[in-house]
Amino acid sequence: MKAVTWQGKKNVSVEEVPDPKIEQPTDAIVRVTTTNICGSDLHLYEPLGAFMDAGDVLGHETMGIVEEVGPEVGNLRPGERVVMPFQISCGHCHMCDLQLYTQCETTQVREHGTGAAIFGYSKLYGQVAGGQAEFLRVPQAQFTHIKVPEGPPDERFVYLSDVLPTAWQGVAYADVPKGGTLCVLGLGPIGDMACRIAIHQGARVIGVDLVAARLDRARSRGVETVDLNEHENDLGDAIREMTGGRGPDAVLDAVGMEAHGSPAGSVAHKVVGMLPDAIARPMMKNAGVDKLNALYSAIDIVRRGGTISLSGVYGGMADPIPMLTLFDKQIQLRMGQANVKRYVDDIMPLLTDDDPLGVDNFATHSLPLEDAPQAYETFQKKEDDMIKVVLKP
Ligand SMILES: NC(=O)c1ccc[n+]([C@@H]2O[C@H](COP(=O)([O-])OP(=O)(O)OC[C@H]3O[C@@H](n4cnc5c(N)ncnc54)[C@H](O)[C@@H]3O)[C@@H](O)[C@H]2O)c1
Ligand SMILES: [Zn+2]
Ligand SMILES: [Zn+2]
Repeated sequence: MKAVTWQGKKNVSVEEVPDPKIEQPTDAIVRVTTTNICGSDLHLYEPLGAFMDAGDVLGHETMGIVEEVGPEVGNLRPGERVVMPFQISCGHCHMCDLQLYTQCETTQVREHGTGAAIFGYSKLYGQVAGGQAEFLRVPQAQFTHIKVPEGPPDERFVYLSDVLPTAWQGVAYADVPKGGTLCVLGLGPIGDMACRIAIHQGARVIGVDLVAARLDRARSRGVETVDLNEHENDLGDAIREMTGGRGPDAVLDAVGMEAHGSPAGSVAHKVVGMLPDAIARPMMKNAGVDKLNALYSAIDIVRRGGTISLSGVYGGMADPIPMLTLFDKQIQLRMGQANVKRYVDDIMPLLTDDDPLGVDNFATHSLPLEDAPQAYETFQKKEDDMIKVVLKP
């Protein structure tokens, strides 16, 4: 089959690889019909490259048709239409019982001390082949699937794999009081969708980014936007001015480790990027290598006693954090990979023909799988007004 493979830093290619096969009785094979590129894939594209091997198949936002099931996957049949959550979870361990599916004890990657395995997401998350391919092997398939109805196009449901539950959890963790204000940093797919969900739930939303197309799109959906280019040095003041001098009740960081405007982190990224993997890996784990500008902004912007919700992914183990300010401002900090299936029942009623969250037209680019290498480059550079890419194998 054809698959999008990681070949080196900033280098992905479409290759012929062996078709996946049922390996465990709890596996299923899915024929992929739509598979997206995510901002998280960009972390593998560059900063997390030390945890990848050449040939690893990328992709964790996948849907398709069940092709084959193992003998212990009693609740799936060939021909059924399914979306795969980005994380692989068993549905029956202690953590799954707590609906903390990203911490599943059956698939936790103990070798690296990390949580549940994730499709196409490096050795840190189990080195499981991803879904940017013609076929996907789904481990723990008895639980790792979301059945969706026939009829509407894939674009209606494919964001259940990641964007929708991630944005939903980000907003839930932000815990905006009734009538309150949420500031969303980063208006990529995650931040954009978080804005839509928060507005749908009745919050006032202020969105920050530095890419014109992303600011425009958020504004068209009722977000009050702030262009970071105009407020590199006074973002906190600008947002306090919009919120009675106090700051918003909550800030959602939908940027993560590749934030613009963080010179120290940028040097660390470059240095780690040039080192041999064996040295870079412990560096990533033991040193502060994140670009922390968005997190620092969040700490500054949020009102006293407010909440910061981190959806953006961070990966350094010793990042410098201003504990004095966090403690003094009495800030609550909540974060993590989204527990996808926990939110499906909340989200599904919104995936209707009247499309309140605008999922049907959420993708800016729909491309054949073969175009993935160019799409990765364009998406990373934020060119061609590209905000979300869906790939069609
Ligand atoms: N928690 C989860 O389960 C989960 C799931 C999916 C994605 N993510 C993470 O969410 C983050 C966003 O993902 P995405 O797909 O929207 O990616 P993206 O890269 O398209 O979006 C990031 C946006 O942040 C903007 N930005 C950069 N620096 C900024 C700054 N200092 N202040 C404000 N905005 C800034 C960029 O211009 C861009 O529009 C990534 O870190 C991704 O890994 C987390
Ligand atoms: Zn994703
Ligand atoms: Zn589990």
